[in-house]
Amino acid sequence: MKKVSIIGAGNVGANAAFYIGEKNFADVMLVDVVEGRAKGKALDLMEAAPVRYYDARIEGTDDIADIAGSEVVVITAGHVRKPQMSRLDLLETNAKVIDPIIPQIKQHAPEATIINITEPVDALTCYIWKKGKFDPKKVVGMTGVLDTTRFREFISKELQVSTANTTAVVIGGHHDFMVIIPRYASVEGIPITQLLPQEKIDNLIKRTRAAGSEILSYLKTATAHYAPAAALAEIVEAIIKDSKRMLCVSACLQGEYDVKDLCLGVPAIIGAKGVEKVVELQLTIEERQQFEESVTVIKNAVDTLEI
Ligand code: 2OP
Repeated sequence: MKKVSIIGAGNVGANAAFYIGEKNFADVMLVDVVEGRAKGKALDLMEAAPVRYYDARIEGTDDIADIAGSEVVVITAGHVRKPQMSRLDLLETNAKVIDPIIPQIKQHAPEATIINITEPVDALTCYIWKKGKFDPKKVVGMTGVLDTTRFREFISKELQVSTANTTAVVIGGHHDFMVIIPRYASVEGIPITQLLPQEKIDNLIKRTRAAGSEILSYLKTATAHYAPAAALAEIVEAIIKDSKRMLCVSACLQGEYDVKDLCLGVPAIIGAKGVEKVVELQLTIEERQQFEESVTVIKNAVDTLEI
């Protein structure tokens, strides 16, 4: 099987390893600087294999050189926010955490597609891309897949329909200014604008935007990790299987949406070559204004980093 390395064996990394193992499409190398952490979790995950019926191999290591030969390298190392913190409050701290990882990936897995999920995702995805001088198509942030799955869940619950019937599009930044576009959300192709009154739609949008903070308010010492890990596994699977899935991800834009040299959420075709095509949506004036707000927030954050 192809190999996926996950740097960071915390809640997101370990659950992503589990989802990937369960989907049985790649072997996983779980990496963590804390001695024994990745090894212990990998052992535990493999001991579930006989009753979860996967043959994928999940291994753990504290030696980052073991990422060698990876088709995909996931970065989920770093700190998570605490209640009342914004994701952008983690920028400086987490940039320092991932900084030494960048040259290691360059050295040991130079051909890999990198998926970043360390917060704040858009700004740090940009940091990884520019600091590592990687191919922009081979660096992507896990953002919109999480926001869309949340919006889809809330639509499904409101309309009492299967989550499998829902679709959604969320672009811009993975932060309070994310752009959630109801006219592109549907149930089996029927726009939710034909199925729900505007007030209900506004409430679902508001809840989606605040979903990460809502979970943090309950957990207090941890942020969401099951849905982020599951969203991450979707992107990994699309790359490993060359699925050409259209997914909302933080992509390194090279002029699309009139944005250059910045990473933020857009719909993109994801396959073996990474971000194979950015899909440019027709936006209304209001949607474009919201998108521009996102661009400003992320650009201001990236400008504070030494790249
Ligand atoms: C979230 O939205 C952790 O940012 C992540 O839950």
